[in-house]
Amino acid sequence: MKALVLSGGAGTRLRPITHTSAKQLVPVANKAVLFYGLESLADAGITEVGMIVGDTAAEIQEAVGDGSTFGLDITYIPQEQPLGLAHAVLIARDWLGDDDFVMYLGDNFIVGGITDLVDEFRGSRPDAQILLTQVPDPRAFGVAELGPDGQVIGLEEKPQQPKSDLALVGVYLFTPAIHDAVRAIEPSWRGELEITHALQHLIDVRADVRSTVIAGYWKDTGNVTDMLEVNRTVLEGLERRIDGEVDEETETVGRVVVEKGARVTGSRIVGPAVIGAGTEVRDSYVGPFTSVAQDCRIVDSEVEYSIVLRDASIEGVARVESSLIGRHVEVTPAPSVPRAHRLVLGDHSKVQIHS
Ligand code: DAU
Repeated sequence: MKALVLSGGAGTRLRPITHTSAKQLVPVANKAVLFYGLESLADAGITEVGMIVGDTAAEIQEAVGDGSTFGLDITYIPQEQPLGLAHAVLIARDWLGDDDFVMYLGDNFIVGGITDLVDEFRGSRPDAQILLTQVPDPRAFGVAELGPDGQVIGLEEKPQQPKSDLALVGVYLFTPAIHDAVRAIEPSWRGELEITHALQHLIDVRADVRSTVIAGYWKDTGNVTDMLEVNRTVLEGLERRIDGEVDEETETVGRVVVEKGARVTGSRIVGPAVIGAGTEVRDSYVGPFTSVAQDCRIVDSEVEYSIVLRDASIEGVARVESSLIGRHVEVTPAPSVPRAHRLVLGDHSKVQIHS
């Protein structure tokens, strides 16, 4: 069994992390979301991976390389334009050959991995198997309608009036039956060859399309609350490891990771929390469920339940909570006179201020 991992797309700037061009590289607990997917494929016993790449190919290749660090053998498959998920299957046809495969969308995060699902599929081998999850607003997803005994009777892509709250999760298991289906469909209103339509085609020709409903799913929809929550879930599984420098005035409580090259002085870190390589934490408090990426500076500040991305600095700030701080961001106190907020905010920023 092979895997087709989709890491293409248009390199449009992602909300809320406006400076991250490849959305598959958004970090969760200081690790790219794509890496969790690759690890879960390796855990499921898959080694051959075809990686679809687009505008951001260089960034993805630099991060992932030949896949050997994940125990994978990765072949890059360039997609000239993001013409849809089914288009990705079309262009990977030769590489896929007649093997069964998992199609994994590189910006999706499945808590707990996919090993059981892959095993189940290997055992029963329906024509296709999809994953579904309940979401509060299904309009941003493919949506499934299930019959009385749970069989999939219809699928719609981003419907205005969803027939259920069951969204298609970005992991699909396919036999070669999908190849005829992706050739049979036409582009959608958004100009894409939709995998949802290819699946609907399989249902129409009475192929065996099964579904499994899962919990523990996340995809970046620009919603910071969800992102902080998935970060929290992943940090829950952290194991204590202090590889960086921590001085005697510092107290680290519980599951704290201080990466090699990080320096923590005169501070209190309460886990689960992770401090990235090259980051300096001085005279500060870092509270539970906080991920601080590499090369940041936290000085004379308090940060809790937050994500701080690379090269950001927070200095002299009493309390930062439930926040997402982007790359190269600087947070500092304002002078007391005049009483004014001075802001330089990037596109799609959101700020809450006590006045
Ligand atoms: O994430 C789950 C959803 O993914 C499903 O519920 C939808 O049914 C499915 O159509 C898809 O919806 P999105 O519109 O959110 O897909 P997006 O454009 O974000 O692409 C998903 C991943 O695939 C992303 O990592 C980029 C990559 N991609 C996308 C397209 C359209 C490619 O590599 N090539 C492409 O042509």
